[in-house]
Amino acid sequence: MKKILILGGGFSKERAISLDTAKSVLKALKKKGYKAIICEPDGNLIKKIKSFRPNVVFNALHGRFGEDGYVQTILETAKVKYTHSGVIASYIAMDKEISKKLFLKNKIITPKYLKYKFNKNNTIKKKIIFTVKKKLKFPVVIKPINEGSSVNVYICNKKNLIQNLKKLFQYKEILIEEFIPGREIQVAILGKKKLGAIELIPKRKFYDYEAKYSSKAATKHIIPVELDKKDLNNVMNIALKAHKLIGCKGVTRSDFKFNKGKFYLLETNTQPGMTKLSLVPEIAAYSGMSFINLIEWIIRDASINR
Ligand SMILES: Nc1ncnc2c1ncn2[C@@H]1O[C@H](COP(=O)(O)OP(=O)(O)O)[C@@H](O)[C@H]1O
Ligand SMILES: [Mg+2]
Repeated sequence: MKKILILGGGFSKERAISLDTAKSVLKALKKKGYKAIICEPDGNLIKKIKSFRPNVVFNALHGRFGEDGYVQTILETAKVKYTHSGVIASYIAMDKEISKKLFLKNKIITPKYLKYKFNKNNTIKKKIIFTVKKKLKFPVVIKPINEGSSVNVYICNKKNLIQNLKKLFQYKEILIEEFIPGREIQVAILGKKKLGAIELIPKRKFYDYEAKYSSKAATKHIIPVELDKKDLNNVMNIALKAHKLIGCKGVTRSDFKFNKGKFYLLETNTQPGMTKLSLVPEIAAYSGMSFINLIEWIIRDASINR
């Protein structure tokens, strides 16, 4: 019988979502007869792994520490097989600035951006409005460099840019991106395979935290996506190219905006949500792969030296 230690929770702002993912995975594995437990990472993580002695660690963490190479480094040190991407790929994908540089260098379209550094006394000079106007044009999107789940992502116009920037004082630096109107398309990659795509139509102003996780927000999920063959192939190929460029393993989900025939890659997620209602399981189900089959694929793919 296989023993699986599921890492869930953690220290990031996406802790609650991670616990949901972990619980979904736990339920599916137990039903299939695995010996599985959920473990919240803390200072004793290596000790806990050594005492449970799992065949595989299933990483269900999201955000900082779990998605950015930190926990992957600990798992490599513990010499235990683990799922999803390895140290370097996780680090690159979680850092929106580094990954955008990599996309641009490889002719993947991503929204134009500026890096904005807060100064030590947390004052914001009005000059930023002119810089944005000149280099990007309004509206813009401001976002942390390494966060997820749309946490602290704001769409800003000239009038509320400074006010919104103040909400991000907790970060030393952030990205200001040109706002891309249009459709929201996401693509799942599994190993080297293009698993499929989904379109999200939020009722809210954009695909924010509520739109992602609250059923009350009533975001529409459209699958199969209504794209012609050429566009669908194009977006799936870009997602696979990004997955390979970053050096990802296992499953990833790439987030796009589609406007005037062009796909803009916002980011590639190395730890996409895996609750039964999440997008990757939904894409997998449409392609004929059940939730447990998806989880078992990910477990079979686990290794060290990722
Ligand atoms: N440049 C942009 N133009 C338009 N919408 C954006 C832009 N950047 C982010 N968004 C919106 O915010 C959401 C979250 O942004 P994303 O960059 O994917 O960060 P996160 O890691 O928080 O998911 C996107 O799904 C999209 O709806
Ligand atoms: Mg995203």
